[in-house]
Amino acid sequence: MKTQWIGDVLSGSLNQKEVHLKGWIHRSRGSNAIRFVVLRDSTGTLQCVVKRDKVGDASFEEVASALIESSLEIKGTAIPTDREHGYEIQVTEAKVVGPVDPSNPFPITESAMEEADGGETEFLLDNRHLYLRTGRMTTMLKIRSSVFGAIHSFFRDRDFIEYQAPNFVAGAVEGGSTLFEVPYFGRKAYLTQSWQLYAEAAMPALERLYTIAPSFRAEKSRTRRHLTEFWHAEMEIAWADNNDVMDHGEALVRHIARTLLTERPAELESLGRDLEVIRRFADSDYPRIRYDEAVERLKSKGVEIEWGQDLDYSKEKILTADFDVPHFLTHYPKVAKPFYHRQDPDNQDYVLCHDLLAPEGYGEIIGGGERTWSESEILKRIDDEGTPRDPYEFYIDIRRYGGVPHGGFGLGVDRVCAWLAGADHIRETIPFPRDSRRVTP
Ligand code: 4AD
Ligand code: MG
Repeated sequence: MKTQWIGDVLSGSLNQKEVHLKGWIHRSRGSNAIRFVVLRDSTGTLQCVVKRDKVGDASFEEVASALIESSLEIKGTAIPTDREHGYEIQVTEAKVVGPVDPSNPFPITESAMEEADGGETEFLLDNRHLYLRTGRMTTMLKIRSSVFGAIHSFFRDRDFIEYQAPNFVAGAVEGGSTLFEVPYFGRKAYLTQSWQLYAEAAMPALERLYTIAPSFRAEKSRTRRHLTEFWHAEMEIAWADNNDVMDHGEALVRHIARTLLTERPAELESLGRDLEVIRRFADSDYPRIRYDEAVERLKSKGVEIEWGQDLDYSKEKILTADFDVPHFLTHYPKVAKPFYHRQDPDNQDYVLCHDLLAPEGYGEIIGGGERTWSESEILKRIDDEGTPRDPYEFYIDIRRYGGVPHGGFGLGVDRVCAWLAGADHIRETIPFPRDSRRVTP
């Protein structure tokens, strides 16, 4: 096992000490007598100075001929330098663990990216399994891990119970157009679009529940914010209205931003993120405006929009220009949202729902609201939509036995990662992105 990391050396805690490091060759150059090997591990990169007269001929030759991404084990002394990393290792022993065959070198190089037939992006997606170990991707994966951790700690600290729902389901949650159909022993099943309906079944048991799980949407168009398989953090809470649910969503997003400031400031900065901006997301209140006001704002900017239309990305993007923090849009027209959204008792044309839009053009990161919770209302909503009742019998039953006001939301974890990391495209944030054109590697 490995007990020391490059990060320990870089932190200064191993100054002048004997160290034993294991990693991969990031760069290597030198002469017949001395090699400067930049070693990489999961915590950073560090220059290791390998001298022929220190390590012996056989070991020197082995290291000198090892190609980029060969794995390496070294022993030596950590010495301060005024060069790039602050420290370097004067190597006393070096051994190649897993070599790279010279006839098949590591494919990701500047020139390969420039010359790739399908362009750099497709080339890197084809080599995703190798691209993961390059700096930008590794940084994204660390930020992503902190975002997942923040979501778990947020809900657990508030006594939410983690709860799992099936991924094979019989009906849509978010409309039929993005349902993935799968053959299921002579019948049709679908991959779930959301944990929500099965979470509502457990709401009378647990009252406060959450999950982080994949959701599936057959999104045909490829955009910078849609995946066909994305990670969905969802919560459901009993005895709560639309405002209560928004309070939780707002507190969660602030908590994620705050966690990144504590755990990943260097990573954020290395991606070009200004920490002051993230601090603003962590500390501000998020404004709440109604759909109708959003429509007015759009019209005043010359955007053509009809009342009742859902707001697509192009419209959200224009709206986000007015805000420098996330903001909620509430009270969408009933016709724009699925049946489970509760109608506003004050005006039945609207539903008690919300979307949270991230600023800087990122748009929707949360969708949620209050649920239609009485039996008569849910039957009417299902019938009005022309949706068959059959797949939803279990869902209707929940309302037949002690229905209570309740609500919840879903947060797109990959979208939140993209926004907080300042990524141009959602696929930068997930190890193996899935879209309509790609299931490999
Ligand atoms: O707004 P959506 O469709 O809401 C629901 O699924 C509700 N049933 C959630 C709930 O109330 N429990 O999706 C919720 C969020 C969106 O705001 C977005 O951030 C993300 O999920 N999302 C996607 N992320 C990546 N790729 C996609 N194709 C996504 N579709 C939705
Ligand atoms: Mg939505």
